[in-house]
Amino acid sequence: MNFHILTLFPEMVLNGLNTSIIGRAVNAGFLSIEAVNIRDYAFNKHQSVDDYPYGGGAGMLMQAEPVYLAHEAVAEKILARTDTADCREDQESAAAVGAGMATANEGKLSRRIRTVYLSPQGRVFDQKMAEDLAKEDDLILLCGHYEGIDERVLEEIVTDYVSIGDYVLTGGELPAMVMVDAISRLVPGVLHNDVSAEFESFQDNLLEYPQYSRPEEWHGKKVPPVLLSGHHANIEKWRREQSIIRTYERRPDLLDKCELTEKEKKWFREWLEEKNEIH
Ligand code: ADE
Repeated sequence: MNFHILTLFPEMVLNGLNTSIIGRAVNAGFLSIEAVNIRDYAFNKHQSVDDYPYGGGAGMLMQAEPVYLAHEAVAEKILARTDTADCREDQESAAAVGAGMATANEGKLSRRIRTVYLSPQGRVFDQKMAEDLAKEDDLILLCGHYEGIDERVLEEIVTDYVSIGDYVLTGGELPAMVMVDAISRLVPGVLHNDVSAEFESFQDNLLEYPQYSRPEEWHGKKVPPVLLSGHHANIEKWRREQSIIRTYERRPDLLDKCELTEKEKKWFREWLEEKNEIH
């Protein structure tokens, strides 16, 4: 998968992403991460990319033209190595997914590539969205700074508006890095152990069960005996139950969304009764 990050601070995103698991996946060729400096597309004397907002107000706004040119350059490069027919299909499927998508502007090359604008006004990023975006071959992430970006260019190039949570950051770079990390670990080959992406928190809307490693006893606390039993069915059952308990205790909002079997529901009811949480 290829990420293309449009930003005024390319070194920030590259330094943050070229380490550890993601860095290794880049070196191994499972991912590519390109950071494009929007300032390189500011064709004015001072290479400025921001200006005052019409109508007044605090701060500066990123201007439309450098953002547009940076996006066009990336889009053209992507399309140059992609078959045109495939692209048309991609565009159709992309148009069907994703909330907050701009109207398709047929005939424009750049409309064909999924382009995310990181903004607190976007749909809140979650595991489901990461899974959806991990299916793309190319993803363009647009990072705003200052007070945001001129609305007109957003209307032309953005397909998805995404927020990483209900708080305001100084720019879209950290959110873009969060998204690249969460999406990358779902790309085949990035995690050595494919199972670890499958059985983890948010799988089935349940949080992951507690895990233990050596030694068998630490600070007087023993590893739950079932994990030492070698009985795989019992271990799976225990882990599933622990996931349910953990979700109930830490993220009860998720519990409504997960599907428990009748047997699990019965077990959970009994567990609650035992804890005196139901009478
Ligand atoms: N830019 C500033 N704050 C943000 C947020 N919470 N999510 C995404 N992009 C942002």
